Amino acid sequence: MRTITVLLAITLASTAYAQQPSTINAYHYQVKKSVTASHGAVVSAHPLASQAGLLVLQQGGNAVDAAIATQLALAVVYPAAGNLGGGGFLVAHLKNGKDLAIDYREKAPAAASRNMYLDASGNANTKLSQDGHLAAGVPGTVAGIFASLPYAKLTIQQLIAPAITLAEKGFAITEREANSLNATQELFNKLNTQASAFVRKRPWKAGDTLVQKDLAATLKRISVNGRAGFYEGETAALIIGEMKRGKGLITEADLKAYEAKERTAVSFFYKEYRIVTMPLPSSGGVALQQMMGMVEKYPLNAWGFHSVNAMQLMIEAERRAYADRAQYLGDPDFVKVPVKQLTSAAYLRERMKDYNPRHAGSSKQTGAGVAYESEETTHLSVMDTEGNAVSVTTTLNGGYGSKVVVGGAGFFLNNEMDDFSVKPGVPNMYGLVGAEANAVAPGKRMLSSMTPTIVLKKDKPYIVAGTPGGSTIITSVFQTLLNILEFNLPTQQAVDAPKFHHQWLPDQVDVEEDFDETPLQGLRQMGYKVVPHTPIGRTEVIKVNAQGQLEAVGDKRGDDSAAGY
Ligand code: GLY
Repeated sequence: MRTITVLLAITLASTAYAQQPSTINAYHYQVKKSVTASHGAVVSAHPLASQAGLLVLQQGGNAVDAAIATQLALAVVYPAAGNLGGGGFLVAHLKNGKDLAIDYREKAPAAASRNMYLDASGNANTKLSQDGHLAAGVPGTVAGIFASLPYAKLTIQQLIAPAITLAEKGFAITEREANSLNATQELFNKLNTQASAFVRKRPWKAGDTLVQKDLAATLKRISVNGRAGFYEGETAALIIGEMKRGKGLITEADLKAYEAKERTAVSFFYKEYRIVTMPLPSSGGVALQQMMGMVEKYPLNAWGFHSVNAMQLMIEAERRAYADRAQYLGDPDFVKVPVKQLTSAAYLRERMKDYNPRHAGSSKQTGAGVAYESEETTHLSVMDTEGNAVSVTTTLNGGYGSKVVVGGAGFFLNNEMDDFSVKPGVPNMYGLVGAEANAVAPGKRMLSSMTPTIVLKKDKPYIVAGTPGGSTIITSVFQTLLNILEFNLPTQQAVDAPKFHHQWLPDQVDVEEDFDETPLQGLRQMGYKVVPHTPIGRTEVIKVNAQGQLEAVGDKRGDDSAAGY
């Protein structure tokens, strides 16, 4: 457990929970990296958001209630990634055995077009897809919350109340948040049409209070009017006004037409475990199934954690899955994606035919197989005592999304349009390339990498996992699962262990800076280009331990914090 220097403690009446639920003290709280709980647990990118989730669990809510309350609180206390102006995915395994996948990914506005980010000479201008009004897709988060609500037990008014209080009364920011706000002041000033709560003359510092009155008013409209409190009426008018001032594309009709969708979750077996994860328009589920399928028959456990053999095999699986991602994957409502074939055992066997142990593969030679998506996303994991497990990843895409705050409404708009392939072969902000399947089209959802995942053991929730990290999301989930299922690492170690990442192009292995030199030396000798990378992911895991308790673990890489009772 790490205590933030500045501050604030969440006061927890942890024993007599039913009668005395915890209270949220926004000026005194602690980061708890690990919590073992008997009744319910939440882990998210911010201690106050995890506490909001815990509070609703203690008020009789289930894991879906907690996931909704945590998301709404993240929209206030973690403005770089928590959001109302972005989108996300929820994957759940419910106590009645149902697998649930809710898609609330942003959509391209009706006025978007294939070549909208190309200049007169046909060159891609990714500045436009990354910063400012044109970068924003039609937001999905609020629709997603209302699509999740039928699976919850409490009312939206109960679930949104902690977020409203945190926005209206303010909360003490962490050092990480102060640094992040300071680093983005110039862009906020350049890209915004009106003053916002995030900009001030003096630098932000840990312990400063962030009050968001406009955001509180937006949250109250949602509390009173439901999804119409966002997609219609005053909030919609404020979004349209912002679009007009900044020459963006989102219209009243785009907002009114936006719908979240229930999709069929990806479900596959890895040995005795059933993995439930997100289908298209996330590439995460398909790619995770491919990578796990490609490595399953090899003796990973015998080779050992971070052994050069295990790493090489996993890198080659990552290379192949990302090559397929670039070629084939896109919004299934717009393009036909051969998912069945891409994930079949025969196809995956064929894909690994040219895997050459002890020799680096080559992305020039290994293209897509033959068969017919700053890393500011955020993840939360929840499990309750009833047997519900919920895994939610939401995003603005880059840190603070487009950096545009909707004037008068107090929330950032996403820059998710950059997750489209703005031109075949032109890398997006994560270096990912794409093709026709992920070209921009009106009303289309851009391909994602978000991989909210649940592992079932004997058909009961065993692990809930997910992470932010742009293109590194899929490989982070892949490695975290194998760290537990194959390498038997304790949960905190499985989450904090240094990660490596290969995404086909560029043909290199990105490794976190605290990686052990020995296997890296081995990889270089095999012919791999090994490149140091900033921290990869902020993985939030809940695992059921041998005693049947919930072990909730937050990643060491951020302010991530667990809560439970
Ligand atoms: N914006 C990151 C993703 O959806 O993959």
